[in-house]
Amino acid sequence: MDLKIYKDKQEVAKQFSSYFVDQLKDKDVFHVALSGGSTPKIVFDVLAEKFSDKVDWSKVHFYWGDERCVPPTDDDSNYKMTVEHLFSKIEVPKENINRILGEKNPVNEAMRYANLLEIDLDRVEEGIPQFDLVILGMGDDGHTASIFPYEIELWNSEDHCVVATHPDSGQKRVSINGKVINTAKEVAFLVTGESKAEKVEAVVEKTEGSEAYPASLVNPTSGNLVWFLDEAAASKLNQNPS
Ligand code: 6PG
Repeated sequence: MDLKIYKDKQEVAKQFSSYFVDQLKDKDVFHVALSGGSTPKIVFDVLAEKFSDKVDWSKVHFYWGDERCVPPTDDDSNYKMTVEHLFSKIEVPKENINRILGEKNPVNEAMRYANLLEIDLDRVEEGIPQFDLVILGMGDDGHTASIFPYEIELWNSEDHCVVATHPDSGQKRVSINGKVINTAKEVAFLVTGESKAEKVEAVVEKTEGSEAYPASLVNPTSGNLVWFLDEAAASKLNQNPS
């Protein structure tokens, strides 16, 4: 596990953007699963601002680790957020953007999206689709993608994409499962803010009871796991800023 701790969100965004672009080096094609929520916004802004004309975006194929079951025009849509902060500012072919159809029936869409991943991506043992990179956020409750603590059994579902339900809002979500996450060639956590510090400590330092948090199950077979944190999110870790 590689812990990268930077002073603030801006610096995390800058460093993560460089890391992402480095990942693309010497790759003819690159399949990435994006995280949703609010944390990626500043990262996408910096990525677009600094690298829009320095990357051959035609080789990058975008997917999502999870989506809220809302239309793509809804403010809750991860796709909408990504269009506003990234895709509207870079030259990426439309066919490279593989959004989860949040407006569709969640069960059918989970099956459709799993099928798409199984067709588009290389498949490794047990036929699990393999991303080059999965980007993950983490909730204050220790959830990741849309696998919530009270539904942690979804992590080991046989279905590569599952339907989840937000514990507070009841909002339906479509999410990749834990096997797809842990089969990725590389997994990167992008987590900032004081509110995450308690769960970052629990998950990174494997404190007692941390196995109840889906984020603690992130353990890619490749061994390639990196955390991008700001000092606020890392504030409970006994780690020195890098
Ligand atoms: C989503 C996510 C989810 C997110 C965390 C953190 O669609 O909500 O993918 O896993 O990464 O909830 O969200 P914030 O970045 O908004 O804190």
